[in-house]
Amino acid sequence: MNFNKTHIKLSILVLIVLSVMSCNDNSKLLAVGNSESQAPKSSDLDKRVDSVLNLMTLEEKIGQMNQYNGFMDFTGPAPKGGDAERKFDHIKKGYVGSMLNVRGVKDVLAVQKVAVEESRLGIPLIIGFDVIHGYETMSPIPLAESASWDLAAIKESARLAAKEAAAAGINWTFAPMVDISRDARWGRVMEGAGEDPFLGSKIAIARVEGFQGNDLTSYESIAACAKHFAAYGFAQAGRDYNTSDIGTSTLYNTVFPPFKAASQAGVKSFMNSFNDLNGIPATADKFLMRDVLKDEWEFEGFVVSDWGSITEMVAHGYAKDGKAAAQLAANAGSDMDMESYLYVNELAGLVKEGKVKESVINEAARRILKVKFELGLFDDPYKYCDLEREKEVTGSKEIMDGALDMALKSIVLLKNENQLLPLKKEGQKVVLIGALAAEKNSPLGSWRIGAKDNTAVSVLEGMKQYDANLTFSKGPDLTIGETVFAKEVVINTNDRTGFKDAVNSARGADVVVMVLGEHAFQSGEGRSRTVLDLPGLQQELLEKVHAVNKNIVLVLNNGRPLALPWAAEHIPAIVEGWHLGTQSGHAIAQVLYGDYNPSGKLPMSFPESVGQAPIYYNHKSTGRPSLPAPGIVFWSHYQDDSNDPLWAFGHGLSYTDFEYSNLKVTDDFNSSGKVEVSVVLKNTGDIKGKEVAQLYIQDQFASVIRPVKELKGFELVELEAGASKTLKFTLDKSQLGFYDNHGKWIVEDGTFKIWIGGTSQAELSTTFELGNIE
Ligand code: BGC
Repeated sequence: MNFNKTHIKLSILVLIVLSVMSCNDNSKLLAVGNSESQAPKSSDLDKRVDSVLNLMTLEEKIGQMNQYNGFMDFTGPAPKGGDAERKFDHIKKGYVGSMLNVRGVKDVLAVQKVAVEESRLGIPLIIGFDVIHGYETMSPIPLAESASWDLAAIKESARLAAKEAAAAGINWTFAPMVDISRDARWGRVMEGAGEDPFLGSKIAIARVEGFQGNDLTSYESIAACAKHFAAYGFAQAGRDYNTSDIGTSTLYNTVFPPFKAASQAGVKSFMNSFNDLNGIPATADKFLMRDVLKDEWEFEGFVVSDWGSITEMVAHGYAKDGKAAAQLAANAGSDMDMESYLYVNELAGLVKEGKVKESVINEAARRILKVKFELGLFDDPYKYCDLEREKEVTGSKEIMDGALDMALKSIVLLKNENQLLPLKKEGQKVVLIGALAAEKNSPLGSWRIGAKDNTAVSVLEGMKQYDANLTFSKGPDLTIGETVFAKEVVINTNDRTGFKDAVNSARGADVVVMVLGEHAFQSGEGRSRTVLDLPGLQQELLEKVHAVNKNIVLVLNNGRPLALPWAAEHIPAIVEGWHLGTQSGHAIAQVLYGDYNPSGKLPMSFPESVGQAPIYYNHKSTGRPSLPAPGIVFWSHYQDDSNDPLWAFGHGLSYTDFEYSNLKVTDDFNSSGKVEVSVVLKNTGDIKGKEVAQLYIQDQFASVIRPVKELKGFELVELEAGASKTLKFTLDKSQLGFYDNHGKWIVEDGTFKIWIGGTSQAELSTTFELGNIE
């Protein structure tokens, strides 16, 4: 870090701050560049924040609440004209608290210098970026990582992403996305942890801890952001940005838990969402941001709006104009405005008119400043700006190895008949087919603005390491033209070039590996689908290849559950290979050739057909759950499909087999308030493997209907061939309650059913009684 005269203004500010403080332990505030310094105690921090606040004008406080996008050059002469000039000028005036999308040490340093050296008080900017599944080195998309059910690995993946991003100047990620979603039509399911609030909460904590580390002042830690608060994942019909209309029970029992968990884990920020929830845009929902988040959960960080979501309240028909939108959002508790330009334009006037209290501004600015202090930006605003470190860390071996490890753990073996997998390393003629097999871009996933294009290891490259003579036939293209983040992907539906060659190449092969699925830019933000098939000509190709060779291993590349009933019925081996990031091809090849025994389990149900959506394992029972008599229609079902998913939540196979037995429950709620559950897990196959043992309960009768199953525990266990282990779970009575329809947590007596197994469809079960609860 170069500590020179660029730093003087900040130091002056700090000295002023110190002189107005009566705090004893203020030495750390001057520990410039000392990333080893411990985080100051909360009360010290509050005093420091207040002392800065006392120096600020109303406009400067509002400036902290203003965030601009920064796709512009800060390294040359000051920009002239338009938006760039205005933003630049605002930074100099102290009217900007944060920039997003400025990245790389050179650029971050340049923009930070403007804020620190040229603004009156020299308050550093907080630099935000979507580090969603990696920065430049991509790890698997979050949904894929969630399939690992491996909390330590997920935390480590977030830690490495933070480290790489921090080395590039970034100090705040807009992640984790903790939106529960049950609808695979919604493209953003790729960004979350799937459909279950229990698993989603554990993963939310792991990610927050990974990004923020043990010490937020470390130059390897960045602030995290739980988003999108709230109910964005319940967009009607899976259409992005659409209305969410859900009741209190779903809101409290399903949507809130991962957010609450993130808040309890100390996440430093929340982002609200584009949707309205029951008629109120989340961006102006006082109930969400003030009553629940800041009051009930005592969240101390700040809330940033989503991109332009304040101004979008005009289109929603909620605010009559931008000024009203700013008033509504600020009063409801949105602390920072991302790219609506409305706080910076309107808030000062609104305060003068008495429509927004100055205390609202003070509170928001205080929250934002506090996170800056916690990050150590007041100690050293350039702590993330070390060119040497950037070079050393970006794409380092540690980060690449981490990405491979996470990719391996994310793969789910969906089907494996006749032990077609693993492939034999010798003596087997393998043919590889599919445009996605050679892709080096799509596996990087959807949120990969920091990645360099075409830097993923393709499946073709990965498999060639095992079989240098591998025959590859691409088949027809999947996409037409450019594939870019912000644009609609065009799918090839009629150019059959390469089709016949691919089919012919399959004849006579011992095994055909087909890599099919979605291009990464078919999932993610703004990418909802009404059909969940293999896009373009891929289904036809699969069927034609199958007609000449039945020994097919289908490797799926996709960002969401797909509905593939034909493949599930006809294809003997299916591997869920998601969009696994930079190391994708290596990971898939290691699984295909048996060097890695897969252990992933689906974090989201895969439907039989789109018409079943939303389909999720933890649904309620209707009053007519089963067929009353053969042929009678009056029960809750479809005429043309079953009620069951194709592959259930929690499903995933291994190259070995596991058996569960001896499920026992020691019910001693009356004395200890806990129930002990044990089960014996045995690896009955020939090789070592990992299994995710899952524990589900059902509260059989309750004052508000409970789901037919709820995940309440899981353990990832590795067992040698033939080995067994007794697994123990403890259920505290407090875990057996639920939120009633007024948002109140209650625990009721009654009978509970309990299942343990390797899927949500586990059959091994027993019951216990919960009684005499005080
Ligand atoms: C997304 C957010 C994201 C933000 C900044 C928005 O469109 O909804 O999730 O963090 O852009 O890139």
